[in-house]
Amino acid sequence: MKFRKNVLVSMFAAASLALAAPAALANTFKMAIGDAAGGTQWELGTSFAKAFSEKTGGKHKVDLFPNGQLGDEQDTVNNASMGLLDFSILAINNVTPFSPTVGVLTLPYVIQSAEDAKKLTQGEIGKQLTENTIRDAGVRIVGWAYSGFRVLTNSKKPVKTLDDLKGLVVRVPKNEIMIATYQAWGVNPTPMSWAETFTALQQRVVDGQDNPYITVAAMKFNEVQKYITNIRYIFSLEPLIISEQVFQAQKPDVQKAILEAGQAASEHSYKYLLETEEKIRAELTAKGMEISDPANGEKEWIEKATTTVWPKFYKSIGGKDKLDAALKSLGR
Ligand code: MLT
Repeated sequence: MKFRKNVLVSMFAAASLALAAPAALANTFKMAIGDAAGGTQWELGTSFAKAFSEKTGGKHKVDLFPNGQLGDEQDTVNNASMGLLDFSILAINNVTPFSPTVGVLTLPYVIQSAEDAKKLTQGEIGKQLTENTIRDAGVRIVGWAYSGFRVLTNSKKPVKTLDDLKGLVVRVPKNEIMIATYQAWGVNPTPMSWAETFTALQQRVVDGQDNPYITVAAMKFNEVQKYITNIRYIFSLEPLIISEQVFQAQKPDVQKAILEAGQAASEHSYKYLLETEEKIRAELTAKGMEISDPANGEKEWIEKATTTVWPKFYKSIGGKDKLDAALKSLGR
């Protein structure tokens, strides 16, 4: 009896150790991917894994786990921060709750094109945000997926005006800026984790959500959503993060390989977006989705969001001057 108890105790201890042991020394790293395979996150992850393995002469490799298999996007930040997970690719809006200054990238209508997105992430501001994220969340951004504008989808009706939006139950990530934006547009959105979103749309717990075209296709949202509105309030940036504990545990040559592979994968991601988005949009239309543009060049959407939402978040992004600096770097 005593023997059995001891065996059980040591088995439990071994299991706890396996869970708690930093993955830092492994030659094979684990990468969590929030989306299904086939989208921009997958493209960034596979491109990174290939470049990283090449740069380390095959000594290191990365296994990818799509579809939230290693946890919901926000949970992967916590796990990486504690050194229990090596890499994760997730939407920037799911990093903001842990490092509020990156919110400058999700303030509505700050990023107005793919070029803007690239300038902000690859320039001085991107560097500062990477440092802040290490400090606040214990994770380091080593690459970026450029995923395109988050368009609004829903199962009920074409939406062009803010009046059309009324009455729709829209899922948003658990992100204060996005919640405040929908409130400025006159609706109370439903904050929900990414992992629960497909089922909630399928079971009609919510009517709609927003995400980029390529994500809508990768997640097969066309099976549960009919209408798309081409709003352009947030350009979806999806960082590749590495646990700072794991990064610091690597030898300098491996750290260098990680940073270089991240840069190469980001460049690949940008090219992939420009080459793919239009094709995916046509495929979604062929599968029966109906696409509308917001009325009057999106004027009322832009006005309500920028005048109401921006001032609410000056403090959390580190001051109004941070937004001014971002706009200035974009020539505005
Ligand atoms: C979200 O809506 O929570 C994210 O944008 C999902 C994603 O990572 O694609």
